[in-house]
Amino acid sequence: MIERRPMIAGNWKMYTDIFESVNLVKAVSAGLRGDEEADVLVAPPFTNLSVVKPFAENARILLGAQNMHWEGSGAFTGEVSGSMLRAAGCTHVILGHSERRHIFGESDADVNRKVEAAAKSGLIPILCIGETLEEREAGRTFEVIAGQLAGSLAAYTAERDLPAETIVAYEPVWAIGTGRTATPAQAQEVHRSIRRWLGERFGEKISEHTRILYGGSVKPDNISALMSEQDIDGALVGGASLKAESFLGIVQFRKKG
Ligand code: 13P
Repeated sequence: MIERRPMIAGNWKMYTDIFESVNLVKAVSAGLRGDEEADVLVAPPFTNLSVVKPFAENARILLGAQNMHWEGSGAFTGEVSGSMLRAAGCTHVILGHSERRHIFGESDADVNRKVEAAAKSGLIPILCIGETLEEREAGRTFEVIAGQLAGSLAAYTAERDLPAETIVAYEPVWAIGTGRTATPAQAQEVHRSIRRWLGERFGEKISEHTRILYGGSVKPDNISALMSEQDIDGALVGGASLKAESFLGIVQFRKKG
């Protein structure tokens, strides 16, 4: 069995100004022991990326953005491109987060363009997918997940290839910011189906190497159980990533059993 190195990623969403971002990254880096069993990533708001960068770099924390536009440059007021994110020091970019999809109306086709543009700019996409409560209760979880994967990775399915190191994050919409986490078994079931889908489209090697993160009310007290599941390779953390103590409690998880 292939060992996938876990990743714990903090999505700071639209929280923290420049000063708070610096304080947070400093506190996280001060609490890292250096022997963590996971890659650690933070995704601050755009305005704070370059000030967070040196602190992150010193502590070997990876830097991600929360969104980007698919064009490289142009008259797109209010947008930021992949090459700009690279220049600001990002290695990763979160794409298709449920808040982008549901609040800002991003479609799978938009996300597909962004994934393609991110990879072309040398950024590693963290592609988010997840069903709503209504879809889960209607028994449509797997269908929705497969549809989002097919739509958001449409550029790659024909070639049977995936941009290097692409990360998938399963974030059930009903578990985001609600305190209602998917049980480890519920999450594992979906993660397995995602890996199976990836295997069918891109082959065993890619599917076995792809890290699939879980997101939705991850906390220090539920991370170990989630991480004990075979297909859960880490977490995308919202609320609990905004305090160094709780984020470190997640980063320094111990597998159960
Ligand atoms: P919470 O951890 O606050 O539920 O947010 C999850 C999330 O949306 C991470 O991208």
